[in-house]
Amino acid sequence: MCGIIGYVGNRPALPILIEGMRRLEYRGYDSAGVALVDQGTVGVTKSAGRLSVLEQILDLTATQTTGIGHTRWATHGAPTDVNAHPHQDCTGKIALIHNGIIENERALRTYLQQQGVTLTSETDTEVLAQMIGRFYEGDLEHAVRQALHEVSGTYGIAVICADEPGVIIAARKGSPLIIGIGKGEHLVASDAAAILAHTSQVVYMDDGEIARITADQVRMTTLDATPVTKKIEEVEWSLEQIELTGYDHFMLKEICEQPAALENCLRGRIDLGDGSIHLGGLVDCTRELTRAKRIILTACGTAWHAALVGEYLFEELTRIPTETEYASEFRYRNPIIDDGTVVIAVSQSGETADTAAALAEAKQRGALTLGVVNVVGSTIARAADAGVYLHVGPEIGVASTKAFTGQVVVLALIASYLGRRKHLSATAAEQFISALARIPHQIGEILEHVDAAKSVAQRYADRENWLYLGRGYNYPVALEGALKLKEISYIHAEGLPAAEMKHGPIALIHEGMPVVVIATAGTQYDKIISNIAQVRTRGGSVIAIATEGDRQIAEQADHVLYVPDTVEPLQPLLTAIPLQLIAYYAAVHRGCNVDKPRNLAKSVTVE
Ligand code: AGP
Repeated sequence: MCGIIGYVGNRPALPILIEGMRRLEYRGYDSAGVALVDQGTVGVTKSAGRLSVLEQILDLTATQTTGIGHTRWATHGAPTDVNAHPHQDCTGKIALIHNGIIENERALRTYLQQQGVTLTSETDTEVLAQMIGRFYEGDLEHAVRQALHEVSGTYGIAVICADEPGVIIAARKGSPLIIGIGKGEHLVASDAAAILAHTSQVVYMDDGEIARITADQVRMTTLDATPVTKKIEEVEWSLEQIELTGYDHFMLKEICEQPAALENCLRGRIDLGDGSIHLGGLVDCTRELTRAKRIILTACGTAWHAALVGEYLFEELTRIPTETEYASEFRYRNPIIDDGTVVIAVSQSGETADTAAALAEAKQRGALTLGVVNVVGSTIARAADAGVYLHVGPEIGVASTKAFTGQVVVLALIASYLGRRKHLSATAAEQFISALARIPHQIGEILEHVDAAKSVAQRYADRENWLYLGRGYNYPVALEGALKLKEISYIHAEGLPAAEMKHGPIALIHEGMPVVVIATAGTQYDKIISNIAQVRTRGGSVIAIATEGDRQIAEQADHVLYVPDTVEPLQPLLTAIPLQLIAYYAAVHRGCNVDKPRNLAKSVTVE
């Protein structure tokens, strides 16, 4: 969704802003704009559409050294030139960019209109800009502070003023902001990717903080003006990780990175010698965790599918009753959180609004909360009582791939960590951990046969309806395979527990309809073979995902994509890979913009 970048220093700001905005493009946006401070004026240029449209109307030779840039994903008001950020107050002196939502926008808009202020856009952001303008009496920081006292909702903002060149005021509540520390320059951004080309030293802003940023200094205070001392931290991501490095798309790069990403995720966490697991983030709450009577996993989208695998893993390895809840439902349905409930929020970005709110709700009701998050320092990571990072590196492609497998790996680690402290035997834990350690290499083996998935994808890419079937641990993978296909290729796809097909969806099956069936070796193999027969009898074309060495399946299915053998609870880590590849190649074949699918944003930071 929306992205923020700001620069103050000694270099021309504009190229830095444009490059930063380009790095934010992956988040999804529909308009863009910049504001630069210049000798007593603020110059704003903005337009609907891609960054390239904005570049055409910008004076690329501009030399101003303070500026802010924004990529907007429309919420309040259509994606038009006028609604694009930055927004200004009525004097034109102040310019503001904003991520988040001002909830009392209507009341403030009415108040401003009563004061004779003419608002030009439909956005909540302009309302905030005008409020800052009302309070401005020569001290921008003070005016921002005053205005924010009047505002309810969420914001990450960067503000500049014509009368204070060389100053950016940033503030955060519920929408991430980091400050990049350079030599004689500072940057502010909503995402580390925007500033990594300049510095990896950052300060993470917390909710309720305001920063006054100049080329030489960052001064942080609370909303009530109490000084705050912050730690400078190192972003662990490299520039190379956020670049295509020869791949056609980030999605393909991230699919192919999974062996290395999962090695990284497992590094230092498992001991094959004695089957033990080390999760530094859980040390302080291990006793409380072990006493848990109930676990609730909460997440959205792909993370929800990973959480569903987690539910099965937790119940099997720990025998603690576990449920998986859509974060958006959990937060609004008066959930029962009793003594002994542990709530685990699963999120790649750590910024998904529904998941963050579900975590806050759980915390407020007294649950012990954990975060299973990829982005270090993100909102969910900071809000949870404890947690485990994925460490799979930045995920830029909107379609989540390596984060899914990373989430499943981390949930498997937590489940066996807890399981060992409950009833899981040392031998069983050792076997499980050894199987887990083999997974990265096994994914590498699957990726050696990309062409098989590619040819299936190309063959069926013109079909508008697909079914995905799985049982047990592979049921969540069926859901994930269907989601991957629909979000990037715009093909309608439905994932189902295979046995549910006969309760209705079987009516959809017709001659040549692609039905992907995850039919790996395991306790339900015979049953899934019967499901395949039911599909084929009705003319469906079966694409089976099977375990290497299974010759029988080739007689039952139209196409077979093989994955190596592993223990049943870890099969999702392997069966997900061919489904990611099918979705990718189908979308490419249909000419879709794989990394920036229509209507989607990488992190959904609004409800
Ligand atoms: C997955 O491909 C999607 N883009 C989406 O479902 C995503 O997983 C969901 O929005 C949750 O995001 P998060 O993991 O960053 O919280």
